[in-house]
Amino acid sequence: MEMNGRYLVRTYGCQMNEHDSERIAGLLEKEGMEETDSVEAADVIVLNTCCIRENADNKLYGQLGNLKKLKEARPDLQIAVGGCLAQKDRSIIQQRAPHVDVVFGTHNVGRASELLKVSQKSGPITEILEESEAFPSALPVKRDAQHAAWVTIQIGCDNSCAFCIVPAVRGREISRPFGELIDEVTQLANSGVTEITLLGQNVNSYGRDLTLQVRKEGLPDNPEDLVGPAWLAESPKVRPLFSELLRSVSSVSGIRRVRYTSPHPKDLRPETITAMAEVDEVCEHLHLPLQSGSDRILSAMHRGYTADRYLQRANEAKKLIPDLALSTDIIVGFPGETEKDFEATLEVAAEIQFDNSYTFVYSPRPGTEAAELKDHYVASDVSAHRMQRLRNVIERSSLRNNESRVGHEEEVVVEGRSKRDNEMLTGRTRHNRLVHFASKSIIRAGSYARVRITGARTFNLKGELLEVTATPKHKTRIPVESS
Ligand code: 5AD
Ligand code: SF4
Repeated sequence: MEMNGRYLVRTYGCQMNEHDSERIAGLLEKEGMEETDSVEAADVIVLNTCCIRENADNKLYGQLGNLKKLKEARPDLQIAVGGCLAQKDRSIIQQRAPHVDVVFGTHNVGRASELLKVSQKSGPITEILEESEAFPSALPVKRDAQHAAWVTIQIGCDNSCAFCIVPAVRGREISRPFGELIDEVTQLANSGVTEITLLGQNVNSYGRDLTLQVRKEGLPDNPEDLVGPAWLAESPKVRPLFSELLRSVSSVSGIRRVRYTSPHPKDLRPETITAMAEVDEVCEHLHLPLQSGSDRILSAMHRGYTADRYLQRANEAKKLIPDLALSTDIIVGFPGETEKDFEATLEVAAEIQFDNSYTFVYSPRPGTEAAELKDHYVASDVSAHRMQRLRNVIERSSLRNNESRVGHEEEVVVEGRSKRDNEMLTGRTRHNRLVHFASKSIIRAGSYARVRITGARTFNLKGELLEVTATPKHKTRIPVESS
């Protein structure tokens, strides 16, 4: 059976989801379909859902309600719902939106186009795998940017943060074999990618399961493929595999920038900091989710660290990695959070002087431990006010840190024309700051350039172009990744 026509993939949620959407798009393009951004023009609409925060369910059912009319007018239109919410609420989706053709989960993204084809023949279908048996191999990926790519190094999460639904929907932590990751990064580099971001829910505990397997069961037939040569050669074997991975992917020819997200403060090992300090390709940027600055709340969240421990680790990283940018995630209004607890968060934020923070109002996720604490929920006006106060502190330090860049020369990767001013280009610094700068000539996205910073605002910088240092050499539009 053939699939043709146009597709639209809508993504809700985190980078993991965005990366899954790139894979879904890659699969549909491989079938011969073309992308469209118009709902009316689409023959296939995929909604890739998220259930980490917000009321994703309300949004999804609203969206599906709108699509119902479209489907009635055009019965050939196919609608698929995938991702975390689909994984969790499969039967509710079927009941509430019977016009949905395909429901698939987080573990069977690789089957998206196949399921759409099956449903063309035999009607609506739901397929959810409870756990990933193995990583789907060789999925095509359609990326927006040709020079930058995400690489999923681990799926699932073995922690049990009281607010978080991820362990329930994404399952236990499984790391991809070391050799497979190096092969994937090599393929990406060969196709012109120069910047990679390693992705995982708990990215710095990458490989814990692999090394445990070796310790318990002994060496497999191809040990280097599983855990890499450096860890294998070490005796006794104590180093965390994540630091070896940082070093190895950085040494792949053509890779100029390496990032990773999100690490857990309790698993931030000294070897990782040393690797960041020593390896030129690893960007001087650490995204380290704080969640709260109150020890009482951190303990209720089961985060496994105190505010002091967090500060100690962040300060150690700042000391060892010159010119380090720090960003974070913070939740306000976790059940039972008092004014005093919240002030402790403000104090940590003021002390660290974060460059940026994703700040969230706590949102109960049914099925999580914290959602049970109904008697202790914080009133929404109190949370909203705290959020505003926290934003003020973060924005102040963000502006101050940005201002400290004025006069500096920075390397940027050109991303394209500025959305606000067509005369300007935008680029991304190693710290992940956005810089707007003028250029008379067109510089291709993915080029590297040196700019001098001439101005600072809270969320971005202004600069002037000094020189272009490298131009991109993309070869293929849709590289194949082995995940
Ligand atoms: N409510 C609010 N924020 C949440 N996060 C995760 N779960 C919740 C929730 N129930 C935030 C955390 C995490 C980020 C990805 O999302 O800050 O680090
Ligand atoms: Fe959720 Fe905590 Fe795991 Fe992050 S570490 S995915 S917040 S359970």
